[in-house]
Amino acid sequence: VFANVVRAPEDPILGVTVAYHKDQSPNKLNLGVGAYRTEEGKPLVLNVVKKAEQMLVNDQSRVKEYLPIVGLADFNKLSAKLIFGADSPAIQENRVATVQCLSGTGSLRVGGEFLARHYHEHTVYIPQPTWGNHPKIFTLAGLSVKTYRYYNPETRGLDFEGMLEDLGSAPLGAIVLLHACAHNPTGVDPTIEQWEQIRQLMRSKSLLPFFDSAYQGFASGSLDADAQSVRIFVADGGECLAAQSYAKNMGLYGERVGALSIVCKTADVASKVESQLKLVIRPMYSSPPLHGASIVAAILKDGDLYNEWTLELKAMADRIISMRQELFNALQAKETPGDWSHIVKQIGMFTFTGLNSEQVTFMTNEYHIYLTSDGRISMAGLSSRTVPHLADAIHAAVTG
Ligand code: LMR
Repeated sequence: VFANVVRAPEDPILGVTVAYHKDQSPNKLNLGVGAYRTEEGKPLVLNVVKKAEQMLVNDQSRVKEYLPIVGLADFNKLSAKLIFGADSPAIQENRVATVQCLSGTGSLRVGGEFLARHYHEHTVYIPQPTWGNHPKIFTLAGLSVKTYRYYNPETRGLDFEGMLEDLGSAPLGAIVLLHACAHNPTGVDPTIEQWEQIRQLMRSKSLLPFFDSAYQGFASGSLDADAQSVRIFVADGGECLAAQSYAKNMGLYGERVGALSIVCKTADVASKVESQLKLVIRPMYSSPPLHGASIVAAILKDGDLYNEWTLELKAMADRIISMRQELFNALQAKETPGDWSHIVKQIGMFTFTGLNSEQVTFMTNEYHIYLTSDGRISMAGLSSRTVPHLADAIHAAVTG
């Protein structure tokens, strides 16, 4: 009965890892998926995560009961504080409905389905370009996806005018997906002054902000600075949604731990919204997993563990910044044609190199370097040892 099923293509990002694993070359290098690697090229489990896990194991009172549909209460409260700030009036006034979800993707999907059921405008505007999963998540949630200009390939920077123009002509009340920081794939963010202009424009047209916050702490190394975009929207008292992921900033990729928060006008509205979020979640996966959320809650509620986390997070962010400099220096030293200064200017986990898909294929075939076909490189996968190999490959791709 399934004989006519057509083979689907691999995922544009996760499929790169599949191809990488099939490659037998000892020099192969995976710069596709945004996953942090150490200088030795190994996945990193944060020390603070190991400590929290040990505490959980030692706690004999722990049981494996189902979590409530909305997840772990402590985790939800602490996650909202992390993104909105401990002194956020929205939290103090109980105007935030937070539910634990399956990392960033799950949070976006639950938020999208909630909006499709309960919000009057079904068009969501996403940046061009954006993370490849965004259009699929929102389309399957029942929303209609349009794009707004974001990146200017000429300047390799923000197309701020284009962005304002497109948001300015969006229908009243449309949903707008915004990357809270460290835009994926471009590594280009608005300045805080530009965020303020975006806020004014969006509020004047009642556009509904939906923040995707997958890299808090990875853009600047400061958790508070990386949440500024979100906080200026919450400070004006208006509504917004935020999807948080702990995959990158706590290295909890496979634990699938994240949160969706919906900031409402009143506590009464927030509690009604929460009741409807439960109706979205229950038939989808019933309730979220316990382990990852327990780790996050243990770290966020303990002052010492929290401080230790911020130091480990900063160390990851700093290593990525040093990789940017090393790659830039290596290309300069080789006199590779072109202006590569965007490598050091862009922020977060990725560099949007400007290499085209033919050049990417060449680098994969000839140098066993794996990256997404849009020319995005995960800087977090690079090390001092592998920078020269990548620089050789880019040089050959550009000059060949
Ligand atoms: C990425 O863009 O590489 C990450 O967000 C991982 C993913 O799920 O695509």
